[in-house]
Amino acid sequence: MTGYNPCAEGYQRARCRGEYGICIPHLCHVPNISDIGACRLCIVEHVVNGRSKITTSCTLNVEEGMVIKSNTDRIRKLRKNLAELLVAQAPNSRAIQDIAVRCGVEEVRYKFRNDNCVLCGRCVRVCTEVWKARAIGFVGEEESGTWTIPSVYVRIFANTATTASRCAP
Ligand code: SF4
Ligand code: FES
Repeated sequence: MTGYNPCAEGYQRARCRGEYGICIPHLCHVPNISDIGACRLCIVEHVVNGRSKITTSCTLNVEEGMVIKSNTDRIRKLRKNLAELLVAQAPNSRAIQDIAVRCGVEEVRYKFRNDNCVLCGRCVRVCTEVWKARAIGFVGEEESGTWTIPSVYVRIFANTATTASRCAP
């Protein structure tokens, strides 16, 4: 995607990436549910009218004339650092280890937190948008219907007893 504009106006960014065979590392994106830009692994540089900005590609709406650079030195360096932070947060996750290796991480300079949850929000969004259960959410999250980047741990809402059976085997 570097250096040219393959995306027509109105295309969804995920569809655009897929159609052009572009592989951008990502963790929190799940097809067919909303994107919240939580993991930030999918960052790209996009250029509009000569101005460059870095943003998460899963939340970026492409426009006519926009140039998207997915593999610049700057992006690779930032993405590697983000992957390193994710490993520090959940060092036991095989999926995150695999992503980190693909992003070029060879050592982790940050203190391991062993949180296991990296606040990607996949579980919360699936629970809310697919199951319509709203059984789990983020601590401190306003129940306003709009997503914000989560800042603390996943919590179980009071109505879990009536909805958890959808997740249980
Ligand atoms: S518990 Fe939920 S928010 Fe945390 S890493 Fe797993 S899917 Fe993501
Ligand atoms: S996939 Fe885009 S921020 Fe996580």
